Amino acid sequence: MLPAALKLLLVVQFAGLGASQEHQQRVSAIRVKWLEGQPHYNGGVTFGLPWSKGQHLANTTSFSATSTDGVPADIQSWVTAYWPDGSLKWTGHAIGPSDVGSEGYNIIASGPGNNTATRRKAKRASGIRVNDNPDAVQVNTGKITVAFPKSGNALISSIKTSSGKTVGKNGRLILRSQSGTADDDDAGSPSQIKHFNFVSQIYNTTISDGSSVRALVTVQGTHHLNSSSAAPHKDWLPFTVRFYMYANSEAIKVVHTIVYDGDAKADFISGLGVRFDVPLAGEELYDRHVRIAGVEGGMLHEAVQGLTGLRRDPGAKVRTAQYNGTKVANKSTWPKTVSNRLQWIPTWSDYRLTQLSPDGFNLKKRTKAGQSWLKIPGGTRAGGLAYLGGPTVGGLAVGLRDFWKKYPTGVDISNAATDMGSITMWLYSPDAGPMDIRPYHDGLGQDTYAKQLDALEITYEDYEGGYNTPYGVGRTNELSIYAFDSTPSADKLAALTNHTNEPPALVAEPAHIHSTKALGTYWDLPASTSGSNAAQTIESHMDFLVKFYQNQVEQRRWYGFWDHGDIMHSYDTDRHQWKYDVGGYAWDNSELSPDLFLWTYFLRTGRADVYRLASAQARHGGEVDSYHLGNFTGLGTRHGVQHWSDSAKQVRISTPVYRKAFYYLTGGDERTGDLIHAVLSAETGFFLVDARRKVRDPSVIYKPDPTALYLDFGTDWAGIAAAYLLEWERRGPRWLEARSKLQTTTRTYPTLKFGFVTGEALYNSHTGAWAPPPTDPQNEGVVSVSHLSAVFGVLETIDELIEHDASVPQSFVDAWIDYCVYYGASKAEQRARYGRDFGNLSLRQGHSRLTAYAARKRGNATLARRAWDEFLNDNSPDELGPGDPWSTVWVRGSSVLAPVEEADWITTNAAALYGVAGIENLALVGAPMEGRRGNGTV
Ligand SMILES: *[C@@H]1O[C@H](CO)[C@@H](O)[C@H](O)[C@H]1NC(C)=O
Ligand SMILES: *[C@@H]1O[C@H](CO)[C@@H](O)[C@H](O)[C@H]1NC(C)=O
Ligand SMILES: *[C@@H]1O[C@H](CO)[C@@H](O)[C@H](O)[C@H]1NC(C)=O
Ligand SMILES: *[C@@H]1O[C@H](CO)[C@@H](O)[C@H](O)[C@H]1NC(C)=O
Ligand SMILES: *[C@@H]1O[C@H](CO)[C@@H](O)[C@H](O)[C@H]1NC(C)=O
Ligand SMILES: *[C@@H]1O[C@H](CO)[C@@H](O)[C@H](O)[C@H]1NC(C)=O
Repeated sequence: MLPAALKLLLVVQFAGLGASQEHQQRVSAIRVKWLEGQPHYNGGVTFGLPWSKGQHLANTTSFSATSTDGVPADIQSWVTAYWPDGSLKWTGHAIGPSDVGSEGYNIIASGPGNNTATRRKAKRASGIRVNDNPDAVQVNTGKITVAFPKSGNALISSIKTSSGKTVGKNGRLILRSQSGTADDDDAGSPSQIKHFNFVSQIYNTTISDGSSVRALVTVQGTHHLNSSSAAPHKDWLPFTVRFYMYANSEAIKVVHTIVYDGDAKADFISGLGVRFDVPLAGEELYDRHVRIAGVEGGMLHEAVQGLTGLRRDPGAKVRTAQYNGTKVANKSTWPKTVSNRLQWIPTWSDYRLTQLSPDGFNLKKRTKAGQSWLKIPGGTRAGGLAYLGGPTVGGLAVGLRDFWKKYPTGVDISNAATDMGSITMWLYSPDAGPMDIRPYHDGLGQDTYAKQLDALEITYEDYEGGYNTPYGVGRTNELSIYAFDSTPSADKLAALTNHTNEPPALVAEPAHIHSTKALGTYWDLPASTSGSNAAQTIESHMDFLVKFYQNQVEQRRWYGFWDHGDIMHSYDTDRHQWKYDVGGYAWDNSELSPDLFLWTYFLRTGRADVYRLASAQARHGGEVDSYHLGNFTGLGTRHGVQHWSDSAKQVRISTPVYRKAFYYLTGGDERTGDLIHAVLSAETGFFLVDARRKVRDPSVIYKPDPTALYLDFGTDWAGIAAAYLLEWERRGPRWLEARSKLQTTTRTYPTLKFGFVTGEALYNSHTGAWAPPPTDPQNEGVVSVSHLSAVFGVLETIDELIEHDASVPQSFVDAWIDYCVYYGASKAEQRARYGRDFGNLSLRQGHSRLTAYAARKRGNATLARRAWDEFLNDNSPDELGPGDPWSTVWVRGSSVLAPVEEADWITTNAAALYGVAGIENLALVGAPMEGRRGNGTV
């Protein structure tokens, strides 16, 4: 229910004003809800909201918020995207933790001259205070004050609570590496392996503008050799670490990114971590508390010097206080039988948890270095949070999101019996052995394109020496830091463990997102088709697929530092195993757009489980499957055994269309913003990496030339077009250029005689202009249609472009719709239109959405029937049909390593396209007719 006052505001929304006045007077309220219901704990949250074109002018709109219970909340707002008319397309908003909304919030946008909405805002809570000094940035949230130096090795020099206790110091990054691995030692001499220790070295620390509810500090640097290292090593592994802080919050959210710029054969990462010192001077050893998150809300309760379990009893009050983490009564009040003998009770300085697999962790402690470790019973999947501190000096907790899913990880508490303890969160545990990201085979003698293409025939891997490199891939991890005046309860730390792993998210409702068309017109809510059994069947199949992949992630253990977030490509029925070791079949790397399936499925349903699955994929694909440095910057890697092993480096994998929903829904996640921007570099990548080098028509002499790149509109241009569109929407630094290139493309592509049926043509990356391909210099018309062009987001990108830019020429739209019509048309129809047919094309089911798109745009019922016929009666190996089992079988016993669920009729290609086409067909042409089989009916 909207509060009554708010309803009143809404009533005046369209009070018969002229268009321009309408902009200025309009007030609207949009509801956002907690993704998973009201959180137990909220450290502050950022989210995004879409707006319809023309609804609110960006430069004259202000925002306010109330909780859904009607309580005013402080909000900080910014624009993340604009429609071309200057109206809001997407906004980002931050709300702090003190304003709790049980279900969520109403976000109120109002124009100038009407401050009614903004006046509703109550007292300004004490907001964020920022000091940007020459040598450091200081952020005071009201609960904590954090200092970020602008140079040196510490990203955070101190974290202070509001009562003035410094509970964290010298927050820094740790990198260890070595020049070889043990398996090489057997052949050579172990002493030849050099070991290196690096410290973080900062070169750039900046604070976001206009911080009132949220402050963002971004720290960039590289890892620099520690002065004690014997052998030399260059600075490497550049990092960007972002710290998000909210008014009245004790939490710091950390987004930690590294880019691998080493030599995989000589730079083996052997430890990667984040360390904070925790001042403990003045706290009695028995009042120093260690908490480490265990399994399902579990928590290790220890004190550095234990007062429980002793031969002489200090009394229940003392024991309970220590266990609970409250201050123990003064020693003078204890029985002398205990207090006189404290010196004989060992103190435990170091604790170490190692999660070297997703299935189990070990835990141990020792009194100090040089003494034996003592095992503590471990468990399965640790929560990934550790606390060190005491009731007097306060304390610090550090958590790592997806701790066990990103194994091998670990957490250390060290020197807790000294004046300065520390917590180290290991993103890559030193106990795991060096990270080996060398190529997994030696090339197998594939030294010519002919041999590489022949090898592709058997393993499906597209190999080329030098291309199988991790140089330039990245990884982003999310951490949380919490500061306390005194040791918090174990329950609170359990809630913070949840918060670290599943940070609360606020999302707009599907109906609102849909109505704005800010993410295209190619999807709709499930409810609008609920009347039809045929539609219900498709809905239930899509639900089946989502759950199948969720379960496969778990059963197949698709986890790990580099792997978490990816899924696999296809299945080896004989071994009851995904083809994790077969050339081009293993990691999926977004092949045929499973990302679009999941994101669009989330948009229409609002389902939390889908959001979490798709978010992990967004964090993976943009980082690990894409390049951020070197010749391949902006390009991604085709599916394969290692995320970077295949030699097909293309923008079809890095395309930001796969991360667009995540980016905007998170209020403009800054790291994802960087990734999107980096895809603009694919223009240079196209020049350095000729995608068609192995399969070029021998009659074509092709010289790489940035003004005449021989590109495929779908696998090449669509990805960069998505990046241009985002740059334009965001008004990024290159937005005018991006707009101009898109507009030049929409003018020039239709001048190709056969439009998109030309498939590949020459692209001028300086202007966006297209010219006929070398195979048809006179532009007489050439037919070159690939089944791959339209399965990497081109329809979705073009639809979003047409919605965005009202000036897209009709000739461009017509050329695109012609492609949509003729891909699936009969050979006779193709010949009648283009003089020859398109040959035997596959992926009919996936392309049914093109037919549906044409049916919708042309209001053509025959095409609508054809779309469903293609969807339902493809009957090829690349589709999922009504005749498939739509169920799994369990395989157990000695047939498999461990019991697994199997659906050997599913390939990820087919699943992705079933989902994308199912959603889009339902949205574009409505449910299939029921009754008869064939002819588009079920
Ligand atoms: C602002 O909106 C309120 C309704 O919410 C309306 O009563 C009032 O007249 C408006 N004020 C101006 C200056 O337009
Ligand atoms: C706001 O933006 C619109 C459209 O971009 C522009 O016409 C107008 O002049 C701007 N108004 C102000 C006050 O800046
Ligand atoms: C420093 O960071 C800011 C903001 O993140 C960025 O705009 C600027 O380009 C960076 N400077 C350098 C030298 O990288
Ligand atoms: C202390 O812990 C005990 C259980 O060990 C619990 O029953 C009690 O409520 C706790 N007391 C406080 C003050 O937290
Ligand atoms: C943590 O999350 C789990 C699962 O969502 C929930 O059951 C549990 O109550 C939460 N615990 C706390 C302390 O918030
Ligand atoms: C980058 O591309 C250029 C031009 O193709 C080539 O000469 C160079 O060797 C490449 N560099 C790397 C590191 O691959």
